[in-house]
Amino acid sequence: MAVKSVLRMGDPRLWQVAEPISDFASTGLRELLADMRDTMQALQGVGLAAPQIGIGLRVVIFGNPAEAETAEKNSRYPDADGVPYTVLINPVITALSESSEEGWEGCLSVPGLRGSVPRYLKIRYQGYNEQGALIDRAVSGFHARVVQHECDHLDGILYPMRINDMTKFGFTQELFPNRDVQDE
Ligand code: NI
Repeated sequence: MAVKSVLRMGDPRLWQVAEPISDFASTGLRELLADMRDTMQALQGVGLAAPQIGIGLRVVIFGNPAEAETAEKNSRYPDADGVPYTVLINPVITALSESSEEGWEGCLSVPGLRGSVPRYLKIRYQGYNEQGALIDRAVSGFHARVVQHECDHLDGILYPMRINDMTKFGFTQELFPNRDVQDE
C-alpha cells in the first residue's frame, strides 16, 4: 500500500474523537491497515493510530511488524521487542490496579520531542483484530504504556497533555545528549 504522511500536533484532526468500526469486511479497512503498517514501519514507530494519518476511526496498531521481526531492533524503542504486532479495533482499556509509573514517550505526531508521562502499570485491553475476532489481554509495563498512548489518540489526546512535570518535556537531543536516539 502506501506510506502516509503523519499529522503533527496542531492539526485539528488530532483533537477529534474517532468513530468505531462497524464493517470489519470492508476494503477500506484492509487498505487503512496496510497503510498504517507501512507508515509505522517506514518511520520506525512502535505504534500508530488511524487519526494520525487523518482517518477518524477507532483503529490502532502497535508492536513490531512481522517483516521487522528478524531485522534489527527498532532503534527508536529498543524495548519494543516484547510487544507483539497487534491490530486493535474499537479498543477498551481497563486499569487493573491504581498503580501508575512515569516513563519517557515520543510520538510520530510530535517529532523530535520526548516527555515523561504517567501511565497505568497494569491494564486489560479488549478489542477486535482485522478479522473481527476478540482480543482480550492483560499486560503491564512498556506494552501497557504503548496501548494507553495509542488509544489516547482515538480520544483526541496527545501525550504532552498528560505530562505533570513540564521540565520533563523537551527535545530528544537535549534530554538525552549522550544517547544515540534517532529523530522521528
Ligand atoms: Ni502517538
